[in-house]
Amino acid sequence: MPIRVAVIGGGAAGLCAARYLTKKPDMFQVVVYEQSDQIGGTWVYTEDVGTDKYGQPVHSSMYYRLRTNLPKEVMMFPDLPLKEGGRTSFIKHNDVLRYLKRYAATYDLHKYIQLQTRVELVKPITSNDRTTWEVTVKNAEDPDAVPQVHVFDAVMVCNGKYAVPSYPDIPGLETFTGKVIHSHEYRHPEDFQGQTVVLLGAGASGCDICVDLHPFVDKIYLSHHKQEITSMLPSNLQQVPDIASIDNGSIVFTDGQRAEADALILCTGYLYNFPFLAAECGVVVDRMRISPLYKHVLHTGFPSLSFMGMVWSINPFQLFSCQVRFAMAALDGTMTLPSTIDMDTDTQQDYEYRRHELKYPHHYAHKLDSMQWDYKKELLQLAKVEEDDEAINPIFEEMYNETHHLRTKDLVNYKTRSFEMSDDLKSWELL
Ligand SMILES: Cc1cc2nc3c(=O)[nH]c(=O)nc-3n(C[C@H](O)[C@H](O)[C@H](O)COP(=O)(O)OP(=O)(O)OC[C@H]3O[C@@H](n4cnc5c(N)ncnc54)[C@H](O)[C@@H]3O)c2cc1C
Ligand SMILES: NC(=O)c1ccc[n+]([C@@H]2O[C@H](COP(=O)([O-])OP(=O)(O)OC[C@H]3O[C@@H](n4cnc5c(N)ncnc54)[C@H](OP(=O)(O)O)[C@@H]3O)[C@@H](O)[C@H]2O)c1
Repeated sequence: MPIRVAVIGGGAAGLCAARYLTKKPDMFQVVVYEQSDQIGGTWVYTEDVGTDKYGQPVHSSMYYRLRTNLPKEVMMFPDLPLKEGGRTSFIKHNDVLRYLKRYAATYDLHKYIQLQTRVELVKPITSNDRTTWEVTVKNAEDPDAVPQVHVFDAVMVCNGKYAVPSYPDIPGLETFTGKVIHSHEYRHPEDFQGQTVVLLGAGASGCDICVDLHPFVDKIYLSHHKQEITSMLPSNLQQVPDIASIDNGSIVFTDGQRAEADALILCTGYLYNFPFLAAECGVVVDRMRISPLYKHVLHTGFPSLSFMGMVWSINPFQLFSCQVRFAMAALDGTMTLPSTIDMDTDTQQDYEYRRHELKYPHHYAHKLDSMQWDYKKELLQLAKVEEDDEAINPIFEEMYNETHHLRTKDLVNYKTRSFEMSDDLKSWELL
């Protein structure tokens, strides 16, 4: 009997899960549940903010002019070159969506995907030491639809992590009379024409929205607690420390400076969100740390429950391909897992390493950054995948690091550069 797997989400991670699971039809039987009416997840741009046409929170955080911050030569899945977008490397969001649709078509994934089907509840049922999963789904466009319950041997959670905004606690924010939005709701720079805008947070959103906004606005304050950005920056941008409070309508920064602003854009990141996991799943999200996850993927108590793409500061698509194969190896017996206690110990050691050796704050529990390359190798090694897999081809690491270097030098213009990669994926050059 094949292992029945429910995949939650039809974004890049869910499609990747379907691609590898369906490669072994004798071993796995898969259903992908996607709540929206198309695949692609966060790459499905929408003008909607707040709620969608079904009254559900908008999922995508794309803005109109967004281009990728990694070259397409780096982003591609290991088994399908990303050619969309012509000769440009930093392509538009709709080119990525077209690529994901081509990926699904290439591997004939549509027949496994149930669109407009929201997973409402995932619950473990354990009997005779064997756990199966009751997955309750509902037609997402019909509020009166009767929920249906299906039973699976395994669940892969691929629901994305950039859909629920994290809001900062700013004393006096309710007294600010200008416009306040989260970057999740940012769409067009024209909405801020001629204004003074404060952006809080200098992650990818804060930095990239500054670049998007600067030709349209009068003045930008980029408020953050990172090291000072030394790249070339727009002349109308000023870096300031974090926001201390709102006082008499002014934004007050922690060094005492004040700004009279028309708008505040909170680029303060996102929260993990698993509203469908029943309490019996025993998954705890403690300020951006999901527990108990072995290698950031497998539930140590229920290894048939896995989570794709919860790590961050990564090259996502290739990393998903390693996580999926790692989770599959745990299911089909290719890999013998350590005991729950040993997996918990390994997980705790990983966390302690981050806290004490890397001096990371608690909420960086799933940050990878330069660790992503060894992490992918380790997953594939554990999953007994052959050595020369493209997902660990070192040229992707080289190009990723070169991109970081270009961005650090010139945040405003780095996306005008292009990479060229040889067809055999063995060499590349920067044009
Ligand atoms: C603004 C922005 C820009 C980015 N730019 C880049 C970039 O340039 N390069 C790059 O590599 N990465 C970029 N990323 C990262 C991006 O998140 C990943 O590339 C990748 O697309 C994530 O895929 P995912 O499948 O994990 O999540 P998502 O794409 O979010 O997909 C999750 C899917 O799950 C569905 N879903 C959720 N809950 C349920 C449920 N209960 N039932 C059924 N379906 C459900 C959602 O509808 C969605 O389709 C960017 C992210 C953001 C937010
Ligand atoms: N293609 C593109 O150009 C593009 C554009 C936008 C986003 N993205 C992608 O979207 C994803 C999300 O990026 P993101 O920037 O939205 O989230 P993020 O990476 O989590 O960054 C959020 C930033 O806000 C800071 N922050 C949080 N709370 C704060 C507070 N109260 N005061 C001050 N600063 C605060 C965080 O600081 P700490 O680190 O200290 O927590 C962090 O630097 C990433 O994958 C990114 O690559 C890509």
